[in-house]
Amino acid sequence: MTEPTLTILPESADDAIAIDRLHERTFGPGRLAKTAYRIREGAGHALALSFTARIGTLLVGSVRLTPVRIAGAPALLLGPLTVEPPFRERGIGQALIERALAEAKARGHRLVLLVGDEPYYGKCGFKRIPKGQVQMPGPVDPARLLVCELEEGAFDGVTGPIRPD
Ligand SMILES: CC(C)(COP(=O)(O)OP(=O)(O)OC[C@H]1O[C@@H](n2cnc3c(N)ncnc32)[C@H](O)[C@@H]1OP(=O)(O)O)[C@@H](O)C(=O)NCCC(=O)NCCS
Repeated sequence: MTEPTLTILPESADDAIAIDRLHERTFGPGRLAKTAYRIREGAGHALALSFTARIGTLLVGSVRLTPVRIAGAPALLLGPLTVEPPFRERGIGQALIERALAEAKARGHRLVLLVGDEPYYGKCGFKRIPKGQVQMPGPVDPARLLVCELEEGAFDGVTGPIRPD
């Protein structure tokens, strides 16, 4: 028998409950106190820029992008990114990021930020933000504050506080 294939689809409103459960299982209630969560709560993620991974009909992963502003400059905040434990280490996380970045670029976005592990996200083009260039509305380890330019030079001269858009 052949294994059902992986599909990456834009998130739909019907996915909300399954994704909330995935976040709860992965990050627990502590997720609600995180600085990035505060921003996401303020803006709400963009469904058209957020994606689910499915094996057959089973939702096995999710990535969300939320519109933000760095001072006046529009950007997107990536996260949470989550893959169900039995389906990890198969490239699903990278496939979700790549799809979200491609869609953001196609829609004219120029910058994507996140709070996460550089060794993982570096594979998709994220780099550490120089300390002090941007400020989150709460405590964040500066080594985990990363940016991906969807257009070369898009981050040049962009500085200031990150707020929900
Ligand atoms: C992080 C996560 C999304 C990765 O999903 P995945 O589908 O397993 O990732 P991929 O298959 O695309 O990539 C796996 C590779 O990344 C590496 N990797 C996974 N998490 C990593 C991390 N935090 N730091 C560095 N490398 C990491 C794996 O070791 C593996 O390396 P290899 O290709 O050399 O074997 C998944 O582990 C997860 O949901 N974790 C819990 C939630 C989380 O931490 N989310 C990210 C918030 S920063």
